[in-house]
Amino acid sequence: MTKKNLFIAFEGIDGSGKSTQVKLLSENLVKAGHRVYTTVEPTNSVIGSIIRDIFTHKTEADHRTIAGLFVADRLDHLLGKTNGILKKLEEGYTVITDRYYFSSYAYHGAHMSLDWVIGANALSADLLRPDMNIYIDILPEISMARLTRGRSSLELFENMENQLKVREKYFEAMEKLKLSEKIFITDGNRSPETIAADIWHEISLLVP
Ligand code: ADP
Ligand code: TYD
Repeated sequence: MTKKNLFIAFEGIDGSGKSTQVKLLSENLVKAGHRVYTTVEPTNSVIGSIIRDIFTHKTEADHRTIAGLFVADRLDHLLGKTNGILKKLEEGYTVITDRYYFSSYAYHGAHMSLDWVIGANALSADLLRPDMNIYIDILPEISMARLTRGRSSLELFENMENQLKVREKYFEAMEKLKLSEKIFITDGNRSPETIAADIWHEISLLVP
């Protein structure tokens, strides 16, 4: 019997452990018989590369422009003809994305109206809501320490003051949308294996 394929989004502030957990969940899903496609936002498309140039300070843009670029990048991520998320789901893959629209709510909601950001992403939300948004919760003190240990330079949003605001906005957005979204919050200040077991317990309930 083929498994029901899922769409799962990982969320959290920078350095919260998303990519580590995407890999561990993917391994668990493969062992359970899923075909898994993992992906990331910002994407590797042309729009994603403009965003990366802004984050790495190669070029500059206003926060509102960045929010708009992410709206376009996300639609392209969903609708892309060959590697688009909708196409991959149609092909039977379980898709895991490292960041989706809650990242926009939190990162742009920290600088402009949260309702505007939610409204601007309504097309994506109407096209595809995750079967689960997994929020890895960690204090910015801890994630910033992890990031500065691992890298020589930091990106646009990677400073303590901003990460504190972003974490607050994540919680505000999750509270606001709790009736329309499936959300699982896990404590990210534990070992990668413990967090992975917590997430696997939750996700395996979706695929009996
Ligand atoms: P993100 O994708 O959210 O930016 P990463 O998975 O890349 O986060 O993790 C950021 C850094 O923290 C990496 O150096 C990673 O090895 C480390 N890390 C990830 N998860 C944990 C954890 N549970 N405990 C301690 N360090 C972790
Ligand atoms: P990336 O280097 O992939 O960071 P991470 O490994 O922490 O995910 O860059 C992603 C950056 O983009 C991160 O700072 C969050 C930001 N971002 C937004 O500002 N809006 C969005 O909609 C998304 C998806 C990401």
